[in-house]
Amino acid sequence: MEKVCFLTLFFFLGIMGCYVEGLGVNWGTMATHMLPPEKVVQMLKDNGIKKVKLFDADHSTVSALVGSDMEVMVAIPNDQLAVMNDHRRAKEWVQKNVTGYKSNGGVKIKYVAVGNEPFLSSYNGTFINITLPALENIQNALNEAGVGDSIKATVPLNADVYSSPDDNPVPSAGRFRSEISDLMTQIVQFLHKNNAPFTINIYPFLSLYGNDGFPFDYAFFDNVGNPVNDNGIAYKNVFDANFDTLVSSLKAVGYGDLPIVVGEVGWPTDGDKNANLGYAQRFYNGLLPKLASNQGTPLRPGFIEVYLFGLLDEDAKSVAPGNFERHWGIFGYDGQAKFPVDISGQGQNKLLVSAQGCAVSSPKMVCVQSKCQGSKQVSR
Ligand SMILES: *[C@@H]1O[C@H](CO)[C@@H](O)[C@H](O)[C@H]1NC(C)=O
Ligand SMILES: *[C@@H]1O[C@H](CO)[C@@H](O)[C@H](O)[C@H]1NC(C)=O
Ligand SMILES: *[C@@H]1O[C@H](CO)[C@@H](O)[C@H](O)[C@H]1NC(C)=O
Repeated sequence: MEKVCFLTLFFFLGIMGCYVEGLGVNWGTMATHMLPPEKVVQMLKDNGIKKVKLFDADHSTVSALVGSDMEVMVAIPNDQLAVMNDHRRAKEWVQKNVTGYKSNGGVKIKYVAVGNEPFLSSYNGTFINITLPALENIQNALNEAGVGDSIKATVPLNADVYSSPDDNPVPSAGRFRSEISDLMTQIVQFLHKNNAPFTINIYPFLSLYGNDGFPFDYAFFDNVGNPVNDNGIAYKNVFDANFDTLVSSLKAVGYGDLPIVVGEVGWPTDGDKNANLGYAQRFYNGLLPKLASNQGTPLRPGFIEVYLFGLLDEDAKSVAPGNFERHWGIFGYDGQAKFPVDISGQGQNKLLVSAQGCAVSSPKMVCVQSKCQGSKQVSR
């Protein structure tokens, strides 16, 4: 994707503005009062968002995207990976949930996410043996259906699939976790063979969470006193360091040039001492202009395809990972903007365009002159 630059109002000052063109968002739907999918699609359009990543291929969600020109990542949840080990079922999935939407300018599906962070350490290896066969079956089914050139299967993984050794904690020493190293190598080979990207979720917030020794400012993109020096490269934020640890891990298995998509990155606004509106704003105020500038990371300069996590709060998510888990949205669960942020990366903090009209489908909602009354009562 090309960087798009334009002359801003500051033209007469000779300042060139660049905006984040390829920015995507994650649209999760684990909420007790779901916004109607059509309203969400309108919100995406109103805010200039052109890419969306889903966590399933639910018909009501995907069909709301018909004709929207939005680039879409549909997904196969972890609990369907075993079923997708059957080639015939994978073919059916692709027929129903991908090619079924292709006709008549249907839905612009670009990726199929096979599983969601299936190798998370806390899953104890549950999905270790069934993820690669599912990936292969889905991509092969896409290829057989004749859409494999434009639609790629990928596996969104948590950044815990790689690390640097404790005695040499620099990005260049990054390697895949030893017990899944062979598996990761096979996955990377398969992605490479099909020109598919590696998808990684990177969470600077989680670097801080429960880790009081972590240098606080390093989670953000400004004001770091003590950069990490990696053979002369100064890392000033953990996002770059984490991303480049992946680049090094890929290089170590022979695929240092594999394209990388950041499937999730964001900051929660509640549920922890470091989860609040101010820190979320500080994080996005650093991340978005960085993405707009296409500076990339030290090992991968240039455009990075990124999906923010997430669009909306999800009040039905498990809080097992932490109380912050229901508060990742740049919008509340009711579609109301939470804090000023400029997703075009211009640093002009303005409130995002909230969901319009009587948004939340709840019996408690009353529509009064297209304002939602009562959203406060149902918000907790
Ligand atoms: C299509 O996706 C939906 C939603 O994720 C899933 O429930 C369904 O089983 C899939 N269809 C097929 C034929 O696999
Ligand atoms: C993984 O193992 C731990 C410790 O044995 C256990 O507490 C946890 O419930 C297991 N998780 C899963 C998803 O099996
Ligand atoms: C995965 O396969 C290995 C080797 O066949 C086996 O030892 C292991 O128990 C399997 N793991 C799971 C979770 O099925």
